Amino acid sequence: MDQHYPYALPPLPFAFDALEPELSARTMCFHHDKHFAAYIDNLNALLKDYPEYQKWPLQKLCQDWARLPEDIRQGVRNNAGGVYLHDRYFQNLHPTPVSSPLPPMEGAIARGFGDMEGLRAAMRQAALSQFGSGWACLCADGEGKLSVVKTANQDTPLPLLPLLCCDVWEHAYYLDYQNRRGDYFDAWWRLADWPKVSRAYELHLSRPIPERKD
Ligand SMILES: [Fe+2]
Repeated sequence: MDQHYPYALPPLPFAFDALEPELSARTMCFHHDKHFAAYIDNLNALLKDYPEYQKWPLQKLCQDWARLPEDIRQGVRNNAGGVYLHDRYFQNLHPTPVSSPLPPMEGAIARGFGDMEGLRAAMRQAALSQFGSGWACLCADGEGKLSVVKTANQDTPLPLLPLLCCDVWEHAYYLDYQNRRGDYFDAWWRLADWPKVSRAYELHLSRPIPERKD
């Protein structure tokens, strides 16, 4: 998606019902067209009267929200994070996913977690232990080392780069799984498109993100 103001809702890269039975068309429609769209609209509205901050790329808004004027600070924190994380969430799902990562990500997963089962267990533990709304993300640091990080609300793990993000807000699963977050996680894991995640990792290795400057 365009990473600058004004933000536009990226189209869902598949039909609403393409992920059934794991995620229903009703869930995908509400999640993408209502929730994701609301974060886009809210972020545009917050930045409307602030041309200097319209120039900030999305990633900088997510990382440096504390430097913004007080009247838009918390709103940008919530909604820029919502835009950034939901973009990755929807882009990394696939109706016919390939479940094997490609090198060099395959090697990084082996070094960090032993194997894919070790990574799945770490992601599942993060997703289920996040109290209330938030995210569980597979992240890479500036040198390519992988880790699993959970965040609250719409906070991103930046400057760690999130490569694969599991949304554990109830809006992501309640229509299909009610309170069964574990069942939702298992379905979501089956839909993750590992070649795409692997390509993002490879790109990251060639362009490491700068560390935060406090
Ligand atoms: Fe969401």
